[in-house]
Amino acid sequence: MAPASRLAAVGLAAFATASTATSIPITNSLEFGPSEAAARQNAFHIFNAIHSAMRQWGSSLNHNGMSLFLVTVPAEWLAFEIEHAELFAHPRWQGGKPPPPPPPPPHISSPQQHPLPNLNPAHHNPPTPFSSSSSSSSTNNNNNATAHGYLHTYLTTTPLHLLYLDGTSAGNTAMGTLDTQDLLLRLNRTAPVWDETGRARALCALAAAWGLDGVLRMEAGFEVIKCDFARGMRLVGAHQRPAERRHGHPRDVGSFEFIRAVARRYGGIGAGRVVVDWGSMVSGFWYGVQLGEEEGMPRLVGVGERELRGIRDRVEEVVRGRKGGEKRVVDWQGVVDLVVGRYADRLRYMVEGVESLQEMQGELNGVLDTHIDYAAEDEGHQAAIGRCARDYTMAVAPETQEDHLILTAIEVVTHSICSTLFEVRKVVVEDPEAGEGSVRVAKEVLRGLMDKLRWTRWKECAACGFNEVCFVPMWPFGDKESHERPNCRNATSINKGWWEQESRYWDSGPGMTPLLGKDNVPGDTMGDL
Ligand SMILES: *[C@@H]1O[C@H](CO)[C@@H](O)[C@H](O)[C@H]1NC(C)=O
Ligand SMILES: *[C@@H]1O[C@H](CO)[C@@H](O)[C@H](O)[C@H]1NC(C)=O
Ligand SMILES: *[C@@H]1O[C@H](CO)[C@@H](O)[C@H](O)[C@H]1NC(C)=O
Repeated sequence: MAPASRLAAVGLAAFATASTATSIPITNSLEFGPSEAAARQNAFHIFNAIHSAMRQWGSSLNHNGMSLFLVTVPAEWLAFEIEHAELFAHPRWQGGKPPPPPPPPPHISSPQQHPLPNLNPAHHNPPTPFSSSSSSSSTNNNNNATAHGYLHTYLTTTPLHLLYLDGTSAGNTAMGTLDTQDLLLRLNRTAPVWDETGRARALCALAAAWGLDGVLRMEAGFEVIKCDFARGMRLVGAHQRPAERRHGHPRDVGSFEFIRAVARRYGGIGAGRVVVDWGSMVSGFWYGVQLGEEEGMPRLVGVGERELRGIRDRVEEVVRGRKGGEKRVVDWQGVVDLVVGRYADRLRYMVEGVESLQEMQGELNGVLDTHIDYAAEDEGHQAAIGRCARDYTMAVAPETQEDHLILTAIEVVTHSICSTLFEVRKVVVEDPEAGEGSVRVAKEVLRGLMDKLRWTRWKECAACGFNEVCFVPMWPFGDKESHERPNCRNATSINKGWWEQESRYWDSGPGMTPLLGKDNVPGDTMGDL
């Protein structure tokens, strides 16, 4: 995360708007609400969204997030990926500007001492890594001090409440990664892709109105837009980076080390650094709206203003209702993990590995036998299918409206898995005439199930070497081929195809390609923050 310097800049940008934040409608447009039918229809998407939330892997593959969650960063945490922060710890402008201020004493603030109105950088001394000058292309570089960046490290002193936007929500693309922010939260159809300042201002105005500390997003790495930078943060240190850092970085070995670091988060950010309130999941998937689809990924572009407003009202309602206080949280990701864990490898093996009828029978009996009651009449195995489908959910007690919708979606998926497996069992195990042809039929049916499930687990590489990473495109890095088939890469091959027009994966919109070139990395995409 969160490039300390980026955080600071975003926070400062937000100060100006915090007091003028327009009031947000509190009423929920009740005539338009979440529906069980929509949860059923979008069940497979919902299941995968829960599986991928706060995970770099699935959120890079399914990069168009449609869901929002209330999350908490516990006290005494903040630094996420130091390599990500390093990207931003470079000077923005050269020439004539004073160097960043020396680090202030460790305890820069406590929330009580610095209520919002006092949060003016002139009043106290928050670290301001970027000098507040206009962009200048001056090559006059007689002040060597400006050639340095500073890496600021913080600890949280109080739990931070953030709105997490799933998918690759920090990716500046025209592919749908910004839909939740621009279309849903900002209700803005004209905001350009490269509008991080406008986006941060608008999101921070919402955060201020809803009582949140900021927004959690993901690109190649997770990051926070921390709106009120002096609240709940303790500066641990500010260390000067080498002067030549800006150049020769983060290409080649540099980019390999960066990818290597964020790839550690494929399965989650770890160590409880972010706690997700699963019952707070508000999603475009809950609503009977026309979610367009682009390259197999949902979009909000076709959803009307009234509907978007209705969904946003629900986000606000949930945030206000769930923030703080005691609440029971169902670990839905844990439930989904159990399902994926039980079936992912077996399904793949049955489709790709099994060679004989006998082996297929063994696999099916192995996975289904436990659900069959051999003493009971069970027409079409309906009871067994029910037990199989509810194996991991029967003990769960949903609480919120969203919990109920999640449960519905998960059980649609598990029912689909179980009924398909029993259908295949009929052909392969129960049919006395079963032969090699039955194995082919079984594989076809199971292949169809896998196509429906679209689990990102199946895109994982087989073991890579110790000096390699399994590479999947993570904004702004990546090539089309690797999105289709993530593959093992080493320090030499890591950036193959990333920047060529015809092979690069990410489309960051017209007119802005120069920003996304070899010499421009995420740190440069923050415009004039
Ligand atoms: C400092 O500036 C001088 C003259 O502009 C330049 O030759 C030198 O390389 C700079 N040193 C660093 C460390 O940037
Ligand atoms: C949309 O965003 C752009 C860029 O920040 C801004 O200029 C414009 O005023 C916004 N429009 C609305 C309707 O908020
Ligand atoms: C890196 O991978 C490429 C492509 O697989 C291979 O040709 C090359 O030898 C590897 N380099 C190293 C240093 O392992």
